[in-house]
Amino acid sequence: MSRKILVTSALPYANGSIHLGHLVEYIQTDIWVRFQKMRGNTCHYVCADDTHGTPIMLRAKTEGITPEQLISRVWQEHYDDFAAFHVAFDNYGSTNSNETKEFAQGIYRTLRANDLIEVRSIEQYYDPIESMFLPDRFIKGECPKCHAKDQYGDNCEVCGAAYAPTDLIEPFSAVSGAKPELRNSDHYFFKLSADSCQQFLREWTRSGSLQNEAANKMQEWLGAEGENKLTDWDISRDAPYFGFEIPDAPGKYFYVWLDAPVGYMGSFKQLCNKTGIDFNDYWKQGSDAELYHFIGKDILYFHALFWPAMLQHAGFRTPTKLFSHGFLTVNGEKMSKSRGTFITARSYIDHIKNTEYLRYYYAAKLNGSMEDLDLNLDDFVAKVNSDLIGKYINIASRCAGFISKKFDGKLGSTDSAATAEFKSSFDHGEIARCYEDRDYARALREIMRLADVANQYIAEKQPWAMAKLEGKEMELHEVCSTAMTMFRDLTLYLKPVLPELAVQVENFLNIAPLTWSGAWQALPSAHTINTYQHLATRLDPKLIEGMVAANQESLKPMTESHSETRHAEHQQRAIAPIAETISIDDFAKIDLRVARIANAEHVEGAEKLLKLTLDIGEENPRTVFAGIKSAYDPEKLKGRMTVMVANLAPRKMKFGMSEGMVLAASGETPGLFILSPDDGAQPGMRIK
Ligand code: MSP
Ligand code: ZN
Repeated sequence: MSRKILVTSALPYANGSIHLGHLVEYIQTDIWVRFQKMRGNTCHYVCADDTHGTPIMLRAKTEGITPEQLISRVWQEHYDDFAAFHVAFDNYGSTNSNETKEFAQGIYRTLRANDLIEVRSIEQYYDPIESMFLPDRFIKGECPKCHAKDQYGDNCEVCGAAYAPTDLIEPFSAVSGAKPELRNSDHYFFKLSADSCQQFLREWTRSGSLQNEAANKMQEWLGAEGENKLTDWDISRDAPYFGFEIPDAPGKYFYVWLDAPVGYMGSFKQLCNKTGIDFNDYWKQGSDAELYHFIGKDILYFHALFWPAMLQHAGFRTPTKLFSHGFLTVNGEKMSKSRGTFITARSYIDHIKNTEYLRYYYAAKLNGSMEDLDLNLDDFVAKVNSDLIGKYINIASRCAGFISKKFDGKLGSTDSAATAEFKSSFDHGEIARCYEDRDYARALREIMRLADVANQYIAEKQPWAMAKLEGKEMELHEVCSTAMTMFRDLTLYLKPVLPELAVQVENFLNIAPLTWSGAWQALPSAHTINTYQHLATRLDPKLIEGMVAANQESLKPMTESHSETRHAEHQQRAIAPIAETISIDDFAKIDLRVARIANAEHVEGAEKLLKLTLDIGEENPRTVFAGIKSAYDPEKLKGRMTVMVANLAPRKMKFGMSEGMVLAASGETPGLFILSPDDGAQPGMRIK
């Protein structure tokens, strides 16, 4: 009987590029979905960009664009990257959609009606310059434990201590540099501590919806029976926030993690609208469809606690199972920019091109557990070349040529003894079970064992020797035809992992798209195949070296802006995109003046800033804090002429008031360059 299955991968954040770590998940999911479809099951695969939250809002601001512009650009980049890796979503949406908004608000309303929402006033740091509440990650200061400077508001990267932002010594806003103030604000909470939630989650944990490792984690979070360890979940954020407004709560927005998983429903709803699938068939309580979420172990908490509790109490079905996986390491270590192993999908595509090599390697390592997975770059080359090329492709490349050259492209009879041995050497159902259990490593081991049997047969028969002898035509024809059937079966089993290669093989063998039930019938004699063309070439280790070197080269001081790098790479030029067109009146609002740097000095405790005293011919010189410490020795700046924005609103910074801004150029390559006027310009002259 055909199953009805809905599958999701986690929704990637819209503030960064897809990298090889992400691909562990999307490739893994895609293989599973393709397998289900080949089996004849009804299977839908949806995903979307996760677009809301403070980091996205601030990043758009830094780039001088709207959040909508940012997320639409990133959406396209993500979409293209996934397509290049053959990750075939049935719908790829965005959480910033009407569908997601309606479900999020609807779920919220039902939870409220069920008395599971509570409003409470909380005290939080507020940035008086930016007029916004600050998430923990946007507050910095001195670690209360080891006194390391410039640490985030939630934990210290030097000593590892975890603390509240209010514990930081001399906290400052990472957005403006201002000293944050504590302010009160009403927040909306989902009452996860309610008995009905805890009780439900205990049952759900026991229901087999989690891998063992994940179920153990859940036990830890839930505590012993009666312990009621769960606390309420803060689901609101104050304006300004890029997200959905909470119904009947002006100025309050859903926290990004409230609407992110709802994006699964929103994206699926879009698919339903396009194709006529019945949404309720998959999401109503008691639905007989299966629902699976592939996720990384870092987001298990959100998917195993909040999400099922929300769904249950809002009248929807809960997930059949969460498939949680571990993290990617490269050469045994965390991906690292300085080692050149923080590799984006785009960089892989540019250097290696063949994305199925990575699919093959990941599949060979994935076993359905939550263990981390290592991409060892030497092993990657070795595995692709020895297994994929050496064992699998080799079967076709050694035998197909004779069919075209000697037999006009027509197959002959099949060696039934050989195919019988080939068949009996392994269990057809076992490969399906391995795929079903997401133990792709085991599936590939089985398939490669089968490839060994085929290669042994060819090695024994030596078609290349037969081709040189008189009277061996019949036998040569039979051996090569038999090899083609074996090659077809191997392709069938590899198709979930190597979908593009499988299509090439289907074209070459001149056969209908392979499905799971099509194995084991020999290709008929007199069937015509097409001339063999190279299906894949060996992976050259130089390409890997080049990729790693390129990722090392692209190291810049501002490492967090890799999305921009990626964008510039994509455009094949080294400049940032040109900002929106403005009128001359807009420009005239900016009062630029020639300034003489009367003094320049270091600021104690500031990592990036120099304190400049600027003379623009006014009675009192101006003080400006400029982020140019990395590029200039203050002594060398004294007496220089430069350009400043003279009518910028003064800004209170951690180290004092800044009364303007000096202009400096920077680009994709390291370096910062302040401007100078030509000789003769006097302090105070206007630049227009
Ligand atoms: N936006 C959230 C998910 C919301 S789902 C309703 C998010 N986004 S993410 O871009 O950070 O990660 C997307 C997925 O990729 C997550 O499942 C995450 O675990 C996975 N991975 C991100 N980096 C990874 C590795 N280095 N290794 C393996 N998987 C990784 O989380
Ligand atoms: Zn510390």
